[in-house]
Amino acid sequence: MHNPVVAIVGATGAVGVEFLRCLEERKFPLGKLRLLASARSAGKTMTFKGEEITVEELTEDSFDGVDIALFSAGGGISRKYAPAAVKAGAVVIDNSSAFRMDPDVPLVIPEVNPEAAQANKGIIANPNCTTAITPLWPIHKKNHVKRLIASTYQSASGAGHSAMEELRESTRATLEGRDYRHSVLPHPYAFNLFSHNSPMDAESGYNEEELKMPREMHKIFKDPDIRVAATCVRVPVLRAHAEALTVEFENPITPDEVREILSTAPGVKVVDDREKNYFPMPKDSTGQGDILVGRIRYDTSDPSGKSIMMFVSGDQLLKGAALNAVQIAELLVTDAADKKLDQAASA
Ligand SMILES: NC(=O)c1ccc[n+]([C@@H]2O[C@H](COP(=O)([O-])OP(=O)(O)OC[C@H]3O[C@@H](n4cnc5c(N)ncnc54)[C@H](OP(=O)(O)O)[C@@H]3O)[C@@H](O)[C@H]2O)c1
Repeated sequence: MHNPVVAIVGATGAVGVEFLRCLEERKFPLGKLRLLASARSAGKTMTFKGEEITVEELTEDSFDGVDIALFSAGGGISRKYAPAAVKAGAVVIDNSSAFRMDPDVPLVIPEVNPEAAQANKGIIANPNCTTAITPLWPIHKKNHVKRLIASTYQSASGAGHSAMEELRESTRATLEGRDYRHSVLPHPYAFNLFSHNSPMDAESGYNEEELKMPREMHKIFKDPDIRVAATCVRVPVLRAHAEALTVEFENPITPDEVREILSTAPGVKVVDDREKNYFPMPKDSTGQGDILVGRIRYDTSDPSGKSIMMFVSGDQLLKGAALNAVQIAELLVTDAADKKLDQAASA
């Protein structure tokens, strides 16, 4: 594929805006860019490389001539329109959870399994943001992850544009002593935190977000034996998620080894300054593609020396969504794909 025509479905959303930024900043070799959203946004304009592009209403006929369709408008829209895009000849890169566990759909993190993208049958899925910012692959290649306990601290941006607005508005109202009636998230958000707002499985007691992490990790790492349990929490941070991870490996491992492996891993930055008490923070990871990792230390509850604890923060609008999808699109573009596969093989 050379200079593809790219369509963004959900261009006006929190992820959509980042798609435009990533395509521009990474100098993606575009033929043409089409912006699609709901009827509410049709006719609005958005700026790309200094030019105004008019947003069109998404319909089943939107994909004529489109080579790559980046979907980010929710699972229902993906289920309804991705087949039309594939039928029109486009490769769909989907940010929703609609197709992630479909055995015919590769689930791709370019730093982990870039080769899977080439085996697509028209749709490639982007992982959930919490899975995408869990940087264990470089360590797993050397010393298998056997068990992961994750606690997440997920920002408003993970729930879209309207949740970010709810956090801003409810914080302002609380500070000014005004009442605020929340409508986007299920609980008061300002100066509060609560269990992730995805549907709860009454039998297991896990919410949907917590169930995604093991499923997706097994598929991407091609290792169904990794035991994973997560507690996912929405925190009143505007943008970028964080996670506390406790990881048990197959063999003993030291914090220094983990630090060394991660310090040369693509897409990861070690921020681990014990003297200054400076570790990964959403404030720092916001706006950058790298996942920040720090607080790398022994899990003192495991005397075997096989368990490590760490704290990560990543901008899930980027690595958890738009950036990862654009990196996948780069794998589909001739030349760029060969280069990325070579880099992955030699990493
Ligand atoms: N936020 C994240 O960190 C994240 C991470 C991974 C995956 N995702 C996935 O990406 C999706 C979008 O997330 P977001 O945070 O960008 O949400 P958002 O800010 O609420 O944006 C939603 C986008 O979808 C469009 N849309 C809604 N209904 C539509 C319809 N009937 N037809 C066409 N377009 C429609 C909206 O267009 P209008 O402006 O016209 O309403 C808007 O562009 C999520 O549902 C999720 O599946 C999000």
